[in-house]
Amino acid sequence: MKGVLLCGGTGSRLGMLTKITNKHLLPVYSKPMVLHPLHILLDAGIKDILIISGPEHAGHFLRLLGSGKNFNARFMYEIQDEAGGIAQALSIAKDFADNDNIAVILGDNIFEDNFAKDIKNFKTGAKIFLRKINDAKRFGVAEIKDGKVVNIEEKPKNPKTNYAVTGLYLYDAKVFDIIKRLKPSARGELEITDVNNHYIKNNEMGFSIVSGFWSDAGTFDSLFNASKLIMEKEKKTKNAL
Ligand code: DAU
Repeated sequence: MKGVLLCGGTGSRLGMLTKITNKHLLPVYSKPMVLHPLHILLDAGIKDILIISGPEHAGHFLRLLGSGKNFNARFMYEIQDEAGGIAQALSIAKDFADNDNIAVILGDNIFEDNFAKDIKNFKTGAKIFLRKINDAKRFGVAEIKDGKVVNIEEKPKNPKTNYAVTGLYLYDAKVFDIIKRLKPSARGELEITDVNNHYIKNNEMGFSIVSGFWSDAGTFDSLFNASKLIMEKEKKTKNAL
């Protein structure tokens, strides 16, 4: 299993905070945002990780993370020229993946959970990770019937459930053929939700429920909330030592 860390996009929802830097380099409590999802991949034992960012601040990611040596891993870097959507960014990882399974994580997703078991046990198809939240309409929302995910709606006005689709996805090598056939959505992006619905239709989608906290960090409120959650976690760990 290889890892793909997606740090493209515009960060436009963070206004002036992203005028001179990339969203994923902003602090989430004690570390630049990108370190949190990176550690999810590293803690699952993934050694080969591709970091995809936009062209403007690619050099800053390289300076921050380097070759991967300091993390006992190997890092590669690619550029997404324009913010064409999560699935478009992922398509850049095809050569890197080289027919291996991949764990894809969004650079603005902050988890408390550990996914080592899910990642080690993953064989084929796709797997998503759901988190029950109060108001899911900002996210992809999963409908579950008879223990299976039957559909995902991207940012529905009236969500059918409270199960948000978090930004960690496991895929087999078929994902790149699926992306090749996608059409841009109404917002002009290749949507990861369309990729996932494809796997659902083929009856090849698994899911797990995320435990502990989960937050994205792409809006003022969620960035603040993510920092608060990490602060509380770090203080709890320190006090327990
Ligand atoms: O956080 C989970 C949610 O992420 C899911 O529930 C949604 O289904 C999924 O579409 C996505 O929703 P967002 O609208 O929050 O995605 P956003 O555009 O904020 O992008 C999230 C990350 O994806 C971003 O931090 C970096 C990466 N990205 C995004 C775009 C649009 C790229 O690498 N390239 C891109 O072009």
